[in-house]
Amino acid sequence: MFPLRMGSPASFATVRDFLKKSGYSEEFLKSHFSVPALEPLLMPQGLLFQHFEKLYQGEGAALFLTRLFLGGYATPRQLFHKYCPREVMDALLELGLVQEVRGSHHDLRSPVLLYPAYGLYIASDAGPRMEGVTGYQGQDFVMSGTEDICRDFIDGFPKTPCERFLDMGTGSGLAAILGAGFAKHAWAVDITERATRFANFNRMLNGVDNLTILRGDLFEPVKDLQFDRIVSNPPFEPPLKSHMIYSEGGSDGEQILARLVQQAPEHLVAGGRLYANVCGTDRDGETFDERVVRWLGVYREEVDVALFVRLELKPEQYAIQQMLGENQESWRLHEYNAFYGSLRAYQVVIGMLVIQRRTRPRPVFRVRRKLGLRSGVEHMDWLMDLEARLLDEGMPQRLMQAAPVATSHWELVARHAFREGRLSPVSYAFQTKQPFEVELNVAPWIAMVVADCNGRHTLESLYDSLQKKAPISEGQFLEAMRALLSCDILRLPGESVPEPLSGPVRHYFLQ
Ligand SMILES: C[S@@+](CC[C@H](N)C(=O)[O-])C[C@H]1O[C@@H](n2cnc3c(N)ncnc32)[C@H](O)[C@@H]1O
Repeated sequence: MFPLRMGSPASFATVRDFLKKSGYSEEFLKSHFSVPALEPLLMPQGLLFQHFEKLYQGEGAALFLTRLFLGGYATPRQLFHKYCPREVMDALLELGLVQEVRGSHHDLRSPVLLYPAYGLYIASDAGPRMEGVTGYQGQDFVMSGTEDICRDFIDGFPKTPCERFLDMGTGSGLAAILGAGFAKHAWAVDITERATRFANFNRMLNGVDNLTILRGDLFEPVKDLQFDRIVSNPPFEPPLKSHMIYSEGGSDGEQILARLVQQAPEHLVAGGRLYANVCGTDRDGETFDERVVRWLGVYREEVDVALFVRLELKPEQYAIQQMLGENQESWRLHEYNAFYGSLRAYQVVIGMLVIQRRTRPRPVFRVRRKLGLRSGVEHMDWLMDLEARLLDEGMPQRLMQAAPVATSHWELVARHAFREGRLSPVSYAFQTKQPFEVELNVAPWIAMVVADCNGRHTLESLYDSLQKKAPISEGQFLEAMRALLSCDILRLPGESVPEPLSGPVRHYFLQ
């Protein structure tokens, strides 16, 4: 049964204003518990026991709300009288955000988690909590959206204005509610009724009225609509865990993503993009990104595909990470090994998949890049735009007339071997860390051209002088220059690449 009640807009506004005025914010939680993000507070889906002591250190409305909504503790009525004005208390009861503890008129408890996230308040299902409360255990459990993986998703799509925004598989509705803040209108779809009810509750709690929430299988409820931005954090786990709808991605973990990729192009306007948070496998004979292109079917020639990788892990590393996260027994490692073995998978890939419907007939591009530690969505969007420009009509001629500059953040690594009694270079590779971690193997002539790119020589003049030393075709030359531009080893005049992100670097558990 859905644990909350839809109340009047006025009751939602009363609760919202109270939460804000009380200082119940992400900043408060991070500083009170001395954690860099909310996730370390919350395994599994509730406040971790080791934070218990701090929960009772200090006083104030924000801490009271933390105990109530994050800790899930039964709270005596007199404390509510201390911190909540009468109308707030009435509104909390009306919305079901607090309910009487069974068998006690003195204590109240919240049946849900209610978190501050990205300046919003998000209610979602609560898992096991202290005091023997088991939490919600249905397969349609709605995750909060504040877990690290959801943060990666939310941080991985642009927040710039757009017309029509869709969050596919919305869960608690966090991404959709954020989207409604910069889109003219936003839509959210989820297959479970429970998720759509939470999303709608959260829409009201955050006072959003340009968001339509619909229930159904992928694009079925929006079959006649097109969007300029679609975002999705689809389920992608192997079918080895608890069969939760939010996490299980079908027989190979990629089934829902495959259908999403297949159907998305039809629902994108020209120039529209899908940003999907993905986890898939590189397999013998077919990498993950190659399979994505195959899923596109008839849209293959109309759609650009970019895979921005955050993490590449050996299957057994990924399995260990999963087992530790879920407190699973170590013998299950065999099940994971058998699963990845059956797929002939040699690598698990986690990242952001961007699919773009081209604006006019032109060749499409495919890129796969490992994101630099200080790179984010700005860098992904920069590359998407650059790759499209490099395929513009007339670009080869314009490129030949341009005088690019070599950037200064790469290293050229030469491998040497001892051959015929002499140490000789056998291969050259450009290595970069920002904006992407790249190792670009090149022929020696490419390294020589880059060394001469100082902004004063056009590519045409560099090509002419190269001709005297090596017979390279213009096609080969341009292809190499495009690769160098796309890795930000060369830059065109006037090209501006986003600065590396500042602030703490996101560290992954196993890397
Ligand atoms: C990993 S959760 C992500 C939830 C939310 N977007 C977030 O990031 O917190 C995946 C969501 O997709 C929904 N879902 C699963 N299969 C779906 C389908 N076939 N069509 C629409 N939604 C689906 C699940 O119910 C769940 O809410």
